[in-house]
Amino acid sequence: MDIQDERRRLLDAEGTDDYETATGVRSEQDIYLDKVQNGKLYLAAFVSVLGPLSFGFVLGYSSPAIPDLTKTTDDRLRLNDDQASWFGSIVTIGAAVGGLLGGWLVERIGRKLSLMFCSLPFVFGFAIIAAAQNIWMLYIGRALTGLASGVTSLVVPVYISEMAHERVRGTVGSCVQLMVVTGICGAYVAGAYLEWRWLAVCGSLPPTLLIVGMCFMPETPRYLLSQGKRREAEEALRFLRGPDAPVQWECARIEEACDQQGAGFKMSDLLEPGIYKPLAIGVLLMFFQQATGINAIMFYAENIFEDAHFDNRALGTVIVGLTQVFFTGIAALIMDRAGRKVLLCISGVAMAISAAVFGVFFHLTTGQHNNTSVRVMVSEVEGSLGAGPEVDLAWLALASMGIFIAGFALGWGPIPWLVMSEIFPSKVRGFASAVCVLTNWGNAFIITKCFQDLLALLTNAGTFWLFASMCALNVVFTIAFVPETKGKTLEQIQDNFRGTQAQ
Ligand code: BGC
Repeated sequence: MDIQDERRRLLDAEGTDDYETATGVRSEQDIYLDKVQNGKLYLAAFVSVLGPLSFGFVLGYSSPAIPDLTKTTDDRLRLNDDQASWFGSIVTIGAAVGGLLGGWLVERIGRKLSLMFCSLPFVFGFAIIAAAQNIWMLYIGRALTGLASGVTSLVVPVYISEMAHERVRGTVGSCVQLMVVTGICGAYVAGAYLEWRWLAVCGSLPPTLLIVGMCFMPETPRYLLSQGKRREAEEALRFLRGPDAPVQWECARIEEACDQQGAGFKMSDLLEPGIYKPLAIGVLLMFFQQATGINAIMFYAENIFEDAHFDNRALGTVIVGLTQVFFTGIAALIMDRAGRKVLLCISGVAMAISAAVFGVFFHLTTGQHNNTSVRVMVSEVEGSLGAGPEVDLAWLALASMGIFIAGFALGWGPIPWLVMSEIFPSKVRGFASAVCVLTNWGNAFIITKCFQDLLALLTNAGTFWLFASMCALNVVFTIAFVPETKGKTLEQIQDNFRGTQAQ
C-alpha cells in the first residue's frame, strides 16, 4: 500500500469530518484531542518564546539606556537628542529588514533553525553595545538586535501555530505578545538597577538560553511534511502530543491539506482568493495595530507619569510595563474561549474611547496651540498640570492612558501576531508573514518618526483624535473582515478562505 492509499485509509477510518458532525456527536477531532498530552508542547512553546522575551527587552532597552547615554561623561558615547532618537528607532528599521530575512529563512532552513539563527544577532548586537567605544557601535548593536527582533517576530508565531493544536493555539500563541511585554517590563525593571552596559549583558542571556534550549526541541510537523519527511514529522508529533495520541491521523490530515494547497509558491498564486484574502487581512491587521499609535503613546507614557506628580519616572514606566503584562496575561487565558474577534472589538472600542478622552485632555489643558514638538507638548502639559488642583486633570490623562494600554494588551497587541500565524497556507506562509512583519515594523518606524510632525500639523488633541478614529476603524474592519479562528485547525481556517468549506 503506498502512502496516498494509507493516508486515505487513515482519514476514512476516522469517519466523518467534524464540520458535518451533528450536535451531540463527538467529532473525530475531539476524540483525537482528548488523547493528547500538552506538557511537551508547552515546553517547546516556553523555549521558543525566549525569542519574543529578547525582542521585548530590545524594545524596552532604550527607555532606561537613553537617559544614561545622554548624560555620560564619555564624549565618544554621549548622545544628543537627534542621536538618541535614532538609537531608539533604528531597531524598527533593523526589524523591518529582519522580517524579510525571516520570511526567506523559514522556508529555506525551517522554523527551528531560523529560531536558533535569530539568537546570534541578538547576542552579537548586545555584545557590541556592551563593548561600545563610539556611537556607531551603539547604532550597529541596536540595528543587529532589531534585525533579530524582526526575524523572531515572524518565526516564533509560525513555529508555535504549526505545532500547537486548535484547543490551545490561542493561549499558547498569545504567549508571544505576553513575553514581548514581559521583556519590555524586564528591561524597565533591570534598567532601574543596572547601567546601560550591564543592561546589554543582561539582554544577551535569554537568546543564549534560546539557542541551547532549541537544540532539544523539534522542527514543526507541518514544515517536515512539506519537505516530504513523514517519519520525522510523526516523531515530532509524538513528542508534542504524547504517547497516547494516534499521530498518524493528524499527519494524514495535514498531508491531505498540503496536497490540496499544492507545493511551491509562485507570484501568480497571489490571484487565488485562498492567498490574497488572508494576505490583505494580515497586512491590514499589522497596519491597524501600529495606526492605534501604541508606540507613540507608550513613549509619551513616561511624561504623563512625570506630569501627574510621579517623582519616580522609572517607577512610572514599570507600572506601564506591568499593566501590559497583566492584561496580556488575561488575554492569553481567555483567547481560546472568548475568540479573536470579540477581543479585537473590545480592545478597539476601549482604545478608541481612551484615545478620544486623551484628546479631550489635551484640548482642555493645552488650548488650541499649534505645538511643534513633543518637548513643547510636554512642557505645556507640565504647565497646566501644575496650575492648581482645580485644573489638575492629571487623573484624566492617567486613566485614559491606563485604559488605552490595557485595551491594547487585551486584543490589538497579541491578536495580529496570532492571526498572522494562523491564516496563511503553508506554501505561502514565509512570504506572506514577511510582508506582514515588514508592514508592522515599517509602520512602527513611520509613526514614531512622524509623531512630532503630526503634532505640528494636527495639534496634540487632533493627533490623539486621529489615533481614536483609527481605533474606531479597526473595530469596523474587524467586524467586516477578520475571520474567527478560535477552535479551528489551520487547515480549516485556510479552507474557509478558499471557499471550500462552510464557516
Ligand atoms: C507591537 C509593538 C509594540 C509592542 C508593545 C507589539 O505587538 O508590534 O510595536 O511596541 O507590542 O506592547
